[in-house]
Amino acid sequence: MEYNYLKIKNENAICTLAISAPKSLNALNSTILKELDDFVSNIPADVRVLIITGDGEKSFVAGADISEMCNLNREEGYAFGRLGALVFRKIETLPIPVIAAVNGFALGGGCELAMACDIRIASNKAKFGQPEVGLGIIPGFSGTYRLAKLVGMGYAKEMIYTGRAIRADEALRIGLVNAVYEPEQLMAEAEALAIRIIANAPIAVRIAKESIDAEYDLAADDAILYENNAFGRCFETQDQKEGMSAFLNKTKPEFRNK
Ligand code: CAA
Repeated sequence: MEYNYLKIKNENAICTLAISAPKSLNALNSTILKELDDFVSNIPADVRVLIITGDGEKSFVAGADISEMCNLNREEGYAFGRLGALVFRKIETLPIPVIAAVNGFALGGGCELAMACDIRIASNKAKFGQPEVGLGIIPGFSGTYRLAKLVGMGYAKEMIYTGRAIRADEALRIGLVNAVYEPEQLMAEAEALAIRIIANAPIAVRIAKESIDAEYDLAADDAILYENNAFGRCFETQDQKEGMSAFLNKTKPEFRNK
């Protein structure tokens, strides 16, 4: 599929995807959502970390496209929300870590896209918010679900009921982002984070993501058992032997993704 709204750079196992719709501050219309769906469904096998950002200096993603939504009826509203929610779920469940490098406005669907990523870092110019109730709707790409999980019920309800946008420093304080950087440093920091991740055993990173996500919704005993099984699976890999023998021999491990 040819992409009109996605800019993709794929280098050294790190793929950077920039959403690019400059006329609408990268707002997500259904064409962009379908392009995103195609991209995440066909991500090259050699990619070990995906970084998602917004093209340009001003915006990560300024939400779902209001001009496309304004005349929708109930069924069409459901279908639009469902489209975005399923694409974001595919991003969340990719077998590789996904970093959101939030370079500007992350409002509505933009905040929701960032929340579907594993890790969020931000420029000090970034702004986060769920302004939907001011438009007569609610967050529609799983924001009512993920925001409370990330920042707790109290902050999520305040942000969603008021629609108030918060700056990067507040997002950092409430745990919505992991770190805040000068705008010109943001992409270098995202890549540095990706490089740290890909230095590790790929299967172990994949099993760690799978375990954290699966265990989050389980009761304690089930979660612990899930981890025990996942831990056991690591010992079937050549990379476990490599990692441990390299440690014992005081050498650098050479992981082979096996
Ligand atoms: N949808 C469609 N167009 C958008 C847009 C959006 N979400 N956000 C910005 N744009 C367009 C503007 O209409 C404007 O277009 P024109 O030049 O043709 O007038 C252009 O982008 C530039 O925007 P502004 O002139 O408004 O730029 P600004 O710097 O003054 O303000 C902003 C920036 C604060 C982000 C403001 O554009 C804004 O409030 N945007 C809407 C944010 C929003 O409400 N997002 C939530 C959408 S609903 C949603 O996402 C539902 C869901 O959960 C799935």
